[in-house]
Amino acid sequence: MVEDKDKKNVYILAIESSCDDTSAAVMRGDTVLSNVTAGQSVHEQYGGVVPELASRAHEQNIVPVVDAALKKAGIEKEQLSAVAFTRGPGLMGSLLVGVSFAKGLAASLGIPMVEVNHLQGHILAHFIKEDGVEHHAPEFPFLCLMVSGGNSQIVKVSGYNEMEIIGQTIDDAAGEAIDKCAKIMGLGYPGGPIIDRLAREGNPQAYSFSKPHIQGFDYSFSGLKTSFLYTLRKFVAEDENYVEKHINDLAASFERAVVEVLMDKLYKASKALKIKRIALSGGVSANTALRNAYADYAKRYGWDIFIPKFGFTTDNAAMIGLVGYHKYLKGDFCSMDKPVFTRTAI
Ligand code: KG4
Repeated sequence: MVEDKDKKNVYILAIESSCDDTSAAVMRGDTVLSNVTAGQSVHEQYGGVVPELASRAHEQNIVPVVDAALKKAGIEKEQLSAVAFTRGPGLMGSLLVGVSFAKGLAASLGIPMVEVNHLQGHILAHFIKEDGVEHHAPEFPFLCLMVSGGNSQIVKVSGYNEMEIIGQTIDDAAGEAIDKCAKIMGLGYPGGPIIDRLAREGNPQAYSFSKPHIQGFDYSFSGLKTSFLYTLRKFVAEDENYVEKHINDLAASFERAVVEVLMDKLYKASKALKIKRIALSGGVSANTALRNAYADYAKRYGWDIFIPKFGFTTDNAAMIGLVGYHKYLKGDFCSMDKPVFTRTAI
């Protein structure tokens, strides 16, 4: 256990490489000193992440990104207390680059390693502090809607290491469905931010797509995506320029359907569990309609809502460092022989 007086001297270097962002952060306790991320534009032309290209880009990016994070934080690597890294879930080749780098660095400095679950990182991103910035974090327990390109889950969070999945998607993730809808319309990758931008100019009530009927608090988005595809096919058969002419309304209507599905189950979970502290995490939390829906539900149902700063919602190493710090305090270190994992629950 780390004494209270020593907590301010804990410096963690965190590494995140689960998908197509190479990120490194330096944390002093739960305060982020630097959070540097290199994206990978190489995937845009393929309409999705190509795993082999992602791991090659991580190999090129990891040294400059870690170097930049240390410099920005003004920390020498000899001052580090531990190295935290994303062990999974994610793409095998991408994870291997980050984990191998973390192991090499920790061994050369003779400091412990802390393994972090990527999804826990997203959920605990609410607790990242910044020097000079007012901080608003939820008290335990709270419910977190975790929506990214690979996951859609409602999680009950009772402590830093106490999480229970209340509901999750049985097929596509919300971000994945939005990206696929963008792809169907011939838009770029990732489609989420493009759909968001187009939707702001469109009529969300212009089209209705068939919604899933799934028991309990689980989600399903594949039927919605198919309904969107069939609707589009019908119109395009009559007018080949249909998508171009109606793109804003199509984007707004599909986005509305996704947001309604997400909020409906979240509301039911909040009611059933009697929890009104409701957080939002993951890349899709940048979505304007989803943020507006949160604000609306907060007003209507007295929810206390928590949405992290944009830079902490998409994949980033600061969230890995935050979880790493809490595990470090408990002495929860990992051995050098830990393999990566590609799929798991939190
Ligand atoms: O959490 P994240 O950065 O990566 C993982 O999947 O782990 O999430 C990426 C997802 C993508 O599907 C992307 O299209 C979506 O988040 N996204 C958005 C927006 N910004 C990113 N979806 C809707 N609206 C946005 N503004």
